[in-house]
Amino acid sequence: MQYDGIKDKVAIVTGAGGGIGRAYALALSAQGAKVIVAEIEKDSGEAVAKEIRERGGEATCIQVDVGSEESTLELADAVVAEFGGIDFLVNNAAIFGGMKLAGLMTVDWDYYKNFMNVNMDGALLCVRACAPSMRDRGGGAIVMQSSTAAWMGVSFYGLSKLGMNGLTGCLATELGPQKIRVNAIAPGPTDTDALRKTAGSYAEQIVAGLPLPRLGTPDDMADACLFLLSDAARWITGQVLNVDGGQIRRP
Ligand SMILES: NC(=O)c1ccc[n+]([C@@H]2O[C@H](COP(=O)([O-])OP(=O)(O)OC[C@H]3O[C@@H](n4cnc5c(N)ncnc54)[C@H](O)[C@@H]3O)[C@@H](O)[C@H]2O)c1
Repeated sequence: MQYDGIKDKVAIVTGAGGGIGRAYALALSAQGAKVIVAEIEKDSGEAVAKEIRERGGEATCIQVDVGSEESTLELADAVVAEFGGIDFLVNNAAIFGGMKLAGLMTVDWDYYKNFMNVNMDGALLCVRACAPSMRDRGGGAIVMQSSTAAWMGVSFYGLSKLGMNGLTGCLATELGPQKIRVNAIAPGPTDTDALRKTAGSYAEQIVAGLPLPRLGTPDDMADACLFLLSDAARWITGQVLNVDGGQIRRP
């Protein structure tokens, strides 16, 4: 499928060294975007950038820690220096695979603070670093990675994703006048190594109760991401799109 408005755009995808982020990076490249694989794990990020180049696309890996303001500013500066500016940002990075499973009452406080810093504030830091270049280029689009867990009241992971939904609305309000759209994707359980490591058989229980009873795939998410970044979504901002086989639905 061809999505208008993506070819030749400069797109940063955070946490793109595997799983859903890798699918976002590959899908954007297949539409002709120049892709920056922004990843804390240098080896996996480099591997995805190489994979894109081997398929004929344009991609580079830049190591970033989204939880560090300094690191996100360096990322944006490096992209502007190499590509001339930034059009798209996909805030996919998160501590997810192998995350600690604990409640809000029991989680180690330092773990909680670092988790929220990376999983929620990290997305805001990336927007703060990248939006000035988007504004200078006359506009842009941002996709935040939420989760259906946001709607379920589950621990600090759900809280961080509810925060992503909140950021989506607040940033859409602030950045709309600069022609920057901000939307979120809330995936249901999606088939990645990280999900298997984190949720195990719990994911199978969720899947059994879905109207469309299968795991999501990273490609299911990538189609939604392309749509939200493309011209087809030109009057859509501040929205959270559940891509979840019907897990979340209004009665
Ligand atoms: N897989 C699912 O079922 C599912 C469901 C809902 C939401 N999500 C969300 O989708 C996103 C991707 O999930 P995934 O399953 O591909 O997991 P994943 O663990 O493979 O992806 C997260 C990526 O973020 C990177 N990362 C972690 N900390 C970072 C930091 N400080 N700076 C930069 N990069 C960092 C990791 O190295 C990894 O590559 C996450 O935001 C996750 O919360 C996943």
